[in-house]
Amino acid sequence: MIVFEFQLRIQTVSDQLLADGEVKEQRIPLNIDTNMLKIGFLGGGKMAQALARGFIRAGLSKGEMMLASCLPNDIGSIETFKEMGSSTVFANATVIDYGDVLILSVKPQIVPKILPEFTREKVHDNKKLLISIAMGISLASLEKALPKDTPVIRVMPNTPALVGCGATVFARGRNASDKDAEITEKLFSAVGICEEVPENLIDPVTALASSGPAYIYMIIEAMADGGVKMGLTRSIAYKLAAQTVLGAGTMVRETNMHPGQLKDDVASPAGSTITGIHHLERHGLRSALIDAIEAATLRCKEVSLQTKED
Ligand SMILES: NC(=O)c1ccc[n+]([C@@H]2O[C@H](COP(=O)([O-])OP(=O)(O)OC[C@H]3O[C@@H](n4cnc5c(N)ncnc54)[C@H](OP(=O)(O)O)[C@@H]3O)[C@@H](O)[C@H]2O)c1
Repeated sequence: MIVFEFQLRIQTVSDQLLADGEVKEQRIPLNIDTNMLKIGFLGGGKMAQALARGFIRAGLSKGEMMLASCLPNDIGSIETFKEMGSSTVFANATVIDYGDVLILSVKPQIVPKILPEFTREKVHDNKKLLISIAMGISLASLEKALPKDTPVIRVMPNTPALVGCGATVFARGRNASDKDAEITEKLFSAVGICEEVPENLIDPVTALASSGPAYIYMIIEAMADGGVKMGLTRSIAYKLAAQTVLGAGTMVRETNMHPGQLKDDVASPAGSTITGIHHLERHGLRSALIDAIEAATLRCKEVSLQTKED
């Protein structure tokens, strides 16, 4: 269970609840007995929603203890948070006031517009932990823009966090304590696996694990297309392709065997699998994936540079 060093506070959140279009007042005490985290999402998009669901499912927070900032026209996100029992507000400052853990989950280009809202008064003399999931925004640039000594952790999650199968890494800023790292690790382990890495590995991790689900969806779709071409129905083809990817991934993780060994075990002499493998090799499947991860890493670095220059 997470033990928090945060002070017990009675927090008053008063803001426009945009979903209802009316002003409501909410009083949410921090109940340290239940080890429930007050989490504020700055930006309530896809990733924030995936994380919020995961945290609730893992019992680390409750819907009513999370607050997200959403743009007034983002009705879909407002509705999703409402379904989870969470409030949404327009003002990022209200979220900063509210959460003990603040998750910066807007697109990278929006981050510089939000950071000035983190004033010394709002971060309560650094009792709040800021977790940034924004792609390409370095710890150094976050720390430079925030009040001195603000604890910051840079996290790179992926969307399978929504179903508890996320692959997340994090790197801690210079003011983040072991306790901050522990909180981050517990939060993100609740939605999959979570490892600490040096910050210079975050770009390749982004290219592999954060972009990776998109590559695998393409593979699932293509395998299903192949099945349909050979006479399977769409629904059984998608089901089989998805389950095969899940099964193969689980085999690699659970057996700790080299994927090459597992592949060899499936390919019998003069069999159909080795014939399929030959086709994949001829069409450069491995090179295509290696190139994709190299290109995506370079693109991450490019985005980081652009964000630094803006
Ligand atoms: N998706 C992934 O797989 C993934 C993986 C790892 C990291 N990330 C990172 O996670 C962050 C969020 O990504 P996402 O995919 O969740 O993007 P997203 O769905 O577009 O979420 C960003 C949200 O922030 C809202 N927003 C825009 N300006 C705002 C402002 N000034 N104040 C408050 N909210 C504002 C957006 O509203 P509008 O849509 O109305 O503009 C949107 O709902 C990004 O920095 C991304 O790099 C994403």
